[in-house]
Amino acid sequence: MILVTGGAGYIGSHTVVELLQQNQDVIVLDNLVNSSITVLDRIETITGKRPQFYQGDVRDKALLLDIFANHKVAAVIHFAGLKAVGESVEQPLRYYENNVNGTLVLCDAMAEAGVKNLVFSSSATVYGPDAPVPYEESMPLGQPSSPYGASKAMIERVLMDLCVAEDNWSVVALRYFNPIGAHPSGHIGEDPKGIPNNLMPFISRVAVGKLPELSIFGNDYDTDDGTCVRDYLHVVDLADGHCRALALLDKSGFQPVNLGTGNGVSVLEMVTSFQEVTGQAVPYKFAPRRSGDLPAFWANADLAESLMGWSADGDLKRMMADTWRWQSQNPDGYDE
Ligand code: NAD
Ligand code: WQD
Repeated sequence: MILVTGGAGYIGSHTVVELLQQNQDVIVLDNLVNSSITVLDRIETITGKRPQFYQGDVRDKALLLDIFANHKVAAVIHFAGLKAVGESVEQPLRYYENNVNGTLVLCDAMAEAGVKNLVFSSSATVYGPDAPVPYEESMPLGQPSSPYGASKAMIERVLMDLCVAEDNWSVVALRYFNPIGAHPSGHIGEDPKGIPNNLMPFISRVAVGKLPELSIFGNDYDTDDGTCVRDYLHVVDLADGHCRALALLDKSGFQPVNLGTGNGVSVLEMVTSFQEVTGQAVPYKFAPRRSGDLPAFWANADLAESLMGWSADGDLKRMMADTWRWQSQNPDGYDE
């Protein structure tokens, strides 16, 4: 049995689908602060199975102990967290409380229940603004500029220390680059509340007519076309990475692993690719740089390949087509 915290969210729901399709038993714990209960119906439509669901908070230790007492949980995949970078600058206490304390409470309950296998949702942001590209796992944790990023680096540090202190813990920190796309069925996808902060959902909402135009933040960076470069990977590949990471939990200790394609793509290339693949117009204008953005970063993804035979195919066309299928079939997201 795998406990998936935050399993109703964007990456969590795709991972739950992959796990169910591999015949794993899954329990989802989510407080629905940034997701919809409808996702469970959609997961069932895709897989023919419904994960057991607890609506609750990862900071609720009594609830966690109850779950561990009632189910034989072999490992936890911990997605639950708040993730909006800009919001974290305005509400640092909320972000540290939810993300850092949420993980502390979870680990405490896991220790008490004797469940010491954890896959954690980390982020490329932990390398900080000064790391050279491509990012490699052997590099030290950096000083992320936002409270969101700092919360991820702090959690990694906590998990590292835990693995040093107790040799029967096994923790894999998956450092995601920029996940995009949706399940090829079109039933689940990214459904940000309000105006999207991230590029891909912004593009798809412009294309579907919900937003008038895209602002490209900065065209004077030191990159080929002047716009920022990122490593975009398909969310289904990312979900598969989590399933494979479970096999690494046989070995004790702390293991960070980058999940990216190893290729950088510019904002302009993203817009062009989306338009070509979908035939939809995406009006855009150039706007000033967004505070805190780095010019360019991408993964060295060799370790994921050597440790768990994982690679993301980097096929932008597939990412764009799947994003558009989800957005055009669900113009209002999960709130039909
Ligand atoms: P998401 O917001 O769609 O999913 C997170 C889920 O966690 C949501 O369903 C939310 O309701 C739930 N949640 C939040 N706080 C909770 C709490 N205290 N108790 C219970 N449930 C709680 O985000 P996502 O894009 O699926 O991201 C999943 C994880 O991956 C997050 O930890 C995020 O920081 C990390 N991550 C995301 C990205 C990205 O670009 N999407 C990149 C790197 C890392
Ligand atoms: C990508 C590029 C923007 C919106 C963030 C977090 C990171 C990780 C993923 C969780 C940038 C540009 C965007 C728009 C634009 N999350 N852009 N117009 O900033 O690389 O990463 O999400 O861990 O930690 O920082 O992703 O999708 O926001 O931006 O021009 O309306 O698109 O400037 O260059 P980012 P993003």
